[in-house]
Amino acid sequence: MRFHYRCSDCGKEFHTEDLMYQCPECSRENDGSHFPKGNLIVELEEDVLKAAAAKEHVTPDDFYPYPSDDKDAYPIGITPLMKPRRIQEKLGLPNLSFKLDSQLISGSFKDRASYEVALQAKALGEKKIVLASTGNAGAAASAVGAAMGLDIILFVPATAPINKLMQSVLYGAHVVPVKGSYDDAFALSIEYTKMHGGINRNTAYNPMTIEGKKSISIELFEQMGRKAPDAVYVPVGDGCIIAGVAKGFMDLMKAGLIDKLPRLIACQSTASDAISRAINNDDYRAIAATTRADSISVDLPANGRMAADYVKASEGWAVTVTDQEILDSQLVLTRLGGILAEPAAACAYASIEKDKDHLVSVLGKDAEIVVLITGSGFKDMKAFDGRAEIPEAIENSAEELKKLKF
Ligand SMILES: Cc1ncc(COP(=O)(O)O)c(C=O)c1O
Repeated sequence: MRFHYRCSDCGKEFHTEDLMYQCPECSRENDGSHFPKGNLIVELEEDVLKAAAAKEHVTPDDFYPYPSDDKDAYPIGITPLMKPRRIQEKLGLPNLSFKLDSQLISGSFKDRASYEVALQAKALGEKKIVLASTGNAGAAASAVGAAMGLDIILFVPATAPINKLMQSVLYGAHVVPVKGSYDDAFALSIEYTKMHGGINRNTAYNPMTIEGKKSISIELFEQMGRKAPDAVYVPVGDGCIIAGVAKGFMDLMKAGLIDKLPRLIACQSTASDAISRAINNDDYRAIAATTRADSISVDLPANGRMAADYVKASEGWAVTVTDQEILDSQLVLTRLGGILAEPAAACAYASIEKDKDHLVSVLGKDAEIVVLITGSGFKDMKAFDGRAEIPEAIENSAEELKKLKF
């Protein structure tokens, strides 16, 4: 075995090759009113970390609990690390980069988690993966499932953006739209797994999702010349992506390849700020989320406790922005960066725009900062309604050109 599990709350270790989701003791207390307890952390064994440390260059496979024997079957990364010159100038941050995970195969960061869970399924001889999703995780699992021959059962809120739902249908998943919230879909998917079997891929509930997501940090380490950035701005809903980013850097640290964690900055909408409340006020209660940034609209963050702990351990902080600031940021990204980002992804940019003076006061203007662009704007073009219009067609005549004002 390359790993064992450890409960993120009581610390108990579990050495088993069987499928495990949560600490049986700590998760017993979960009643839906407070962030769940008992999520498991995957700890790599010493020899795995030593082998990674000895390599000239590392890849995510060196750190996966279930490595791939055929990574070209569904390549994860390396996604571009863009230096957005006009935005660097606008913010006065010369070492700002964007990590474009919108360029992964299904168009969002969620390919990273779905791939590692597919490898887990393969290793355990399981053909069926069950999950709940706000849309992107479902599309990612469905795409990986299509490429790797797995059955995907997907519970999504019926209100999810049509493109995300259609993507999953096109990839051939069994899509079950739910008349309810993402949190309702989450609970139903767990019931379904208990009733009908399969591996549940729910974010953070299955600890392998965090292990898949950590691949971004291994990539960043190599892309930045074998070092960590000073800070990473991450859009946050359930808190699984930010925990994955932290876990990747923690594994690199355990392997002796870096000596400190980057500051992790949790970026949320003021209309879905459960994890920010936990970071700022130790408030772990469920909220009623309403943000237009559907991918980060979460009442009860599935990985809220671990996310808040990791942000604090990194000496990071939380930033909240209004939905209007998120939507405005989408247009800054398109017009100054050439980047089409969905609202949740634009939240990370809106947050650094709001936070830049504070950031400079802590780390200085030359700090190396990475903003995660986690999902493509093509997934939700309706978000631009009323803010951008396609001009009326002109007659096919050179005379018409005289009327143009540009
Ligand atoms: C595009 C995008 N960004 C950010 C997030 C937030 O990730 P997490 O819920 O793990 O915090 C999601 C989650 O669905 C997402 O799809």
